[in-house]
Amino acid sequence: MSTNPPFQLTRTLPEDATDAALRSDVLHGLTRSPKTLPPKWFYDARGSELFDEITTLEEYYPTRAEREILVARAPEIAAATGARTLVELGSGSSDKTRHLLESFADLAAYVPVDVSESALRGAARTLRAEHPGLAVHALVADFTRGLDLPATPGPRLVAFLGGTIGNLLPDERAAFLKAVRELLSPGDFLLLGTDLVKDESTLIAAYDDAAGVTAAFNKNVLSVVNRELGADFDPGAFEHVALWDPREEWIEMRLRSTVPQTVKIPALDLAVDFEAGEELRTEVSAKFRQERVREELGAAGLELTRWWTDEAGRFALSLSTPATA
Ligand code: AVJ
Repeated sequence: MSTNPPFQLTRTLPEDATDAALRSDVLHGLTRSPKTLPPKWFYDARGSELFDEITTLEEYYPTRAEREILVARAPEIAAATGARTLVELGSGSSDKTRHLLESFADLAAYVPVDVSESALRGAARTLRAEHPGLAVHALVADFTRGLDLPATPGPRLVAFLGGTIGNLLPDERAAFLKAVRELLSPGDFLLLGTDLVKDESTLIAAYDDAAGVTAAFNKNVLSVVNRELGADFDPGAFEHVALWDPREEWIEMRLRSTVPQTVKIPALDLAVDFEAGEELRTEVSAKFRQERVREELGAAGLELTRWWTDEAGRFALSLSTPATA
């Protein structure tokens, strides 16, 4: 029997899963009214690069606000959870994770979960250089579809940072939180990052920056569909739209067709008509209040136990644990 492998990588995504999911999402999203595309298709290499650039923009506060909380509260998070395994969903570059790792003296294992194998390998390389004793068990997986976690020591802390839960629609969020609850045993915890409701002008600026980086990020999804499915979208014939829906309390990003046009998608044997001014919804980014976070966690069988915000009250990290019967 081998002892504590320092690095292991498990693939739970079949090679062609991404392709099939993209086809199905594009087919269903572009043949319904209003038209939609799910935000997960933003993140090819170029899209991930543009997102990283967004996080450095003056107008885009969530990344800085969340980092401020992590830096200030990592010792409290470690003390409150006593975690020996840190699972991070959608870990990407694991950039924010190091603030946690430094405070977790008893950590035995780090389990980053992401759809991008290259991001996982890069992050593991950096983290293992900084924490030579830490076992890293990377999972290439789509965490929205249920997970099998490796048998590492408890208690477990499952982290879902960045406010990405806001990109799920309410029913998807409910299903996601139930699936997370299933991963947890009594004494385990969920650390969840949520962006908070605030004044409309701050929110709109964060999703419609002056330099146009978010506009380029939004239009990049058209290039992804062009490349992967042979479509002939002209990104120049769409304009970036960011709007605040006060009833749903979410930001929507849309792409508005500036002209009447027909887009061909050969891989789906599909032609899609756009009227001039017609909008395609590419993302919702929900903003939360503490009551709503508590409620949604509660509906999934999780009890909110701690709540931290940055000084300015823009973003929150919450800790929750399986509710006792
Ligand atoms: C992936 C949730 C961090 O909704 O704020 C940034 C993605 N979209 N600008 C968000 C995004 C437009 C983002 N998160």
